[in-house]
Amino acid sequence: MATSSDQLPAFGQRHVTKGVGRLTDRVMTKGEGSYVQFEDGHRMLDFSCGIGVTNLGHCHPKVSQAAADQCMNLVHSQCSISFHSTYLRLIEKLLPMMPDPSLDSFFLWNSGSEAVEASIKMARFITGKQNIISMQGAYHGRTYGAMAVTKSKTAYSEGFMPLMPGVYGTAFPYWHQLGVPKDTSEEELVRLSLYQLELVLQQQTAPKDTAAIIIEPVIGEGGYVPAPHAFLRGLREICDKHDILLIVDEVQSGFGRTGRVFNIEYSGVRPDMMLMAKGLANGFPLSAVVSRKELTDMLKPGSMGGTYAGNAVSCAAGIAVAQAFKEENILANVNARSEELFSALNKLSEDPAIKSTIVDVRGQGLMVGVEFASSSYNKYDVALQPSAPKGMAARVAKKCIEKGMLILTTSVYEVVRFIPPLNISQEDLKKGIDIFAESVKEVVAEGN
Ligand SMILES: Cc1ncc(COP(=O)(O)O)c(C=O)c1O
Repeated sequence: MATSSDQLPAFGQRHVTKGVGRLTDRVMTKGEGSYVQFEDGHRMLDFSCGIGVTNLGHCHPKVSQAAADQCMNLVHSQCSISFHSTYLRLIEKLLPMMPDPSLDSFFLWNSGSEAVEASIKMARFITGKQNIISMQGAYHGRTYGAMAVTKSKTAYSEGFMPLMPGVYGTAFPYWHQLGVPKDTSEEELVRLSLYQLELVLQQQTAPKDTAAIIIEPVIGEGGYVPAPHAFLRGLREICDKHDILLIVDEVQSGFGRTGRVFNIEYSGVRPDMMLMAKGLANGFPLSAVVSRKELTDMLKPGSMGGTYAGNAVSCAAGIAVAQAFKEENILANVNARSEELFSALNKLSEDPAIKSTIVDVRGQGLMVGVEFASSSYNKYDVALQPSAPKGMAARVAKKCIEKGMLILTTSVYEVVRFIPPLNISQEDLKKGIDIFAESVKEVVAEGN
């Protein structure tokens, strides 16, 4: 007998591995634009976008239609059997969107983690070197190579050791990460971080052994912190000096999330490899590594691949996404809504009822983090301020959910992150901000 609807959550708890955590135990059945609906009829505003995936809203009509049409033509054409047309047509659409014209050679895969794995393989083979440097606070995925370069939370790797060897961590220019006061100038944060990187290259992995540096231009699971442009330029210089490849992971920050198609555009820094996923196909599994032909021509045919890599239906969805960016003025909406969001959050942080609870409002475009004061994670951190109730971020997110909005926390710090759809209406954005503000005020009033 089929499980009744009201028993489905219990069924899930019994039969879905405990290793998968969840924000809510409700069962999602439908998504439409900025809203999702659950089995019990409950409807919620979605400020998580499936962690930055459904950037054009749930079931964007043109994206879903393109995928449905493709389903009736060709669902699977293995990339090692032949080219298929949607794979090539997608690349044709992506080429003019690249942040640098040198990025002209694509490898498509399914997930962000797989793109990270592919980039590590490629970097090792192309340079003939082994080691990878990643940022303290970075998140690059859950497979073994990706997990090794992930340094945002031990929760992702605890008990799963040993990870892939040859990975070294370096400081990201974020005050918490460097253990310096919050009012430290950007110039100083950049200097301290580049200094640490130079030390890593002198003390831990020689440039001669270092294949690549991988970085998210806006660190995602590490707290929604944009990398200062001077830091990215410093990385580029160091990479050029030592023949190290610069891998820019735009899996979360890409596809309009921060107000440009790719965040790296703001700094003008040229990646040697750029990674995309999430918003690329608005929910269909698809990722990409883009690099220069002169580099990828060094790879041996047959060394890269994967059964579902560059799936035809996902590629058709990706083509429709690229088309929507052009036709629907997505970036203009991101920038307009971003201004409203920042202005509302900054105003909220000055509200006397909240006092010094909010210590930072940061991010770019519609990739925005609100950090609350905390005294709990590392007693040696001079930036700690015990002026917010304990566990504030998770408590605020929980309240938002109770009030009808999905929203996520991020990092080991007390950060709530806003990832609304890029085409969200002014009205829905305001609704989300109001829910957030009410939740913050309620948690502050409740105290510890
Ligand atoms: C920056 C970044 N890189 C890589 C990944 C891994 O992507 P996936 O979960 O599709 O494997 C993520 C996922 O959140 C991410 O944010």
